[in-house]
Amino acid sequence: MPEIDTDGAIRAFISDAHSIVAQHGGQVNDASLADIAHRMKEISRWKNLEALADAARERGERLYSEPDGGFQLMLAHFPATTAVHTHGAWGVMAAHQGKEWYRQYVREDDGSAEGEARLKLVREVRIEPGDIGWWYSPPDDIHQQVPDEGGASELIMMSEPPASERLYFDLDHHTYIRDTPAARHYPAR
Ligand SMILES: [Fe+2]
Repeated sequence: MPEIDTDGAIRAFISDAHSIVAQHGGQVNDASLADIAHRMKEISRWKNLEALADAARERGERLYSEPDGGFQLMLAHFPATTAVHTHGAWGVMAAHQGKEWYRQYVREDDGSAEGEARLKLVREVRIEPGDIGWWYSPPDDIHQQVPDEGGASELIMMSEPPASERLYFDLDHHTYIRDTPAARHYPAR
């Protein structure tokens, strides 16, 4: 079986992702994000994806980073239920291993009151390998992952490097705090 030119295939995907956004008139919406995520599924099925991601991590890199701080491709493992959180950028995902419930939210408030937020759940879907999801541009760059036992791994493309400081939401009290993923991503820990 011929070996895949993984670097070339990743660059072709990134190029296609730009083309898809352009074909949708520059709009980042359900239609364009779904098209990008469907296009990304091919890479999410690679058997050597974890080895490629590990090798990139050892170099201090993601699977792909545009040099100008643009599109970023990464393999992420979610060992447990995450907090409801922002990213600082829009993004798409395609499941690689494991299963989860994926919850996507948008803001219902106008963002004028620091520390307060009302969220609306717009999508809750079962995600298994080959399935896709996405989140919108800020301020609607919000989701939560609820993996099954053993966690879930997902190929993720974001429109720019993920923000180091995120918003972490308390849905019961309609509040949020600003903090780092290291401190707040896994509240059950
Ligand atoms: Fe996330």
